[in-house]
Amino acid sequence: MIRIISIFVGLFFTASLLWSLTWDTIQLGKDGLPHTAAAAYGEHPKKLALASDGPFGKFDTAQLQRGFAVYQGVCASCHSLQHVSFGSLEALGYNPAEVKAIAAKATINAKDPLSGEMKDRPGLPADHFPPVVYAGKGAPPDLSLITKARHGGSAYIYSLLTGYEAEQPAALVKHFPDAKTPEGMYFNPYFGNLNIAMPAPITSDGQVTYNDGTAATKDQMAKDVSAFLVWTAEPELEKRHQVGVWWLGFLLFTTVLAYMAYRNVWAEKKGH
Ligand code: HEC
Repeated sequence: MIRIISIFVGLFFTASLLWSLTWDTIQLGKDGLPHTAAAAYGEHPKKLALASDGPFGKFDTAQLQRGFAVYQGVCASCHSLQHVSFGSLEALGYNPAEVKAIAAKATINAKDPLSGEMKDRPGLPADHFPPVVYAGKGAPPDLSLITKARHGGSAYIYSLLTGYEAEQPAALVKHFPDAKTPEGMYFNPYFGNLNIAMPAPITSDGQVTYNDGTAATKDQMAKDVSAFLVWTAEPELEKRHQVGVWWLGFLLFTTVLAYMAYRNVWAEKKGH
């Protein structure tokens, strides 16, 4: 009797497993396509390897400087970087005089210490990047923390910047007429709903001039600005990695110590 019951229970589990598997396939619809254009045509981020990756990763300051040049030359007209202070750019290898010069190019609206009124003045190293007034379509987010705020982080930024396609796939428009890119939007399969309000920002090689001799190809600029945005989101990353390594060493040491103590205790017991 027990045997028959257990056979039935087993059959029941197998049947429900099979059903849940086929249910997924049924969900795909008649054409074998998922129900939304984003599910059918959205892409996962491309691979991006950066020096700061992994538990021992360190920033490549030359790359961060190039990425900063891309931010300044291309992104800064639409995106702010309000969590970053000019002074912190010294971590990229700029000397205090260079930082001062970078800050001075910005216009900061701040309280005038003499009159107490709000006034425009040139930036100082202690200032943060100012807000950006944007009049176009859509709302460009502040980029300071964007690599933490998006799934895929730097790889997502890199993919988004290099992922624009001039035309939507014909099959997409055929199967999902509602997902057709609206006027004034741009098709990008790496963006959540496939159509983004940001026009492709990196459009030609040499758009930015690098002063370290690296060829400013579109791909290189996209990589460099992604690396830079990893730094803006976590300038303390190297410190975190160092603390991690220190802890690993400490754990290893205590493990060895514990093992030696164990041997010692048992050596005494066996000796008697
Ligand atoms: C002409 C203005 C403009 C420029 C230049 C520009 N962006 Fe944008 N960006 C936008 C707008 C508008 C959005 C909001 C898009 C939306 O939500 O559809 C956006 C969104 C983004 C997003 C967020 C995407 C998401 O997942 O929500 C990232 C990341 C981004 N931009 C990075 C950059 C980088 C890096 C550069 C420079 C290489 C740059 N942008 C240059 C206007 C711009």
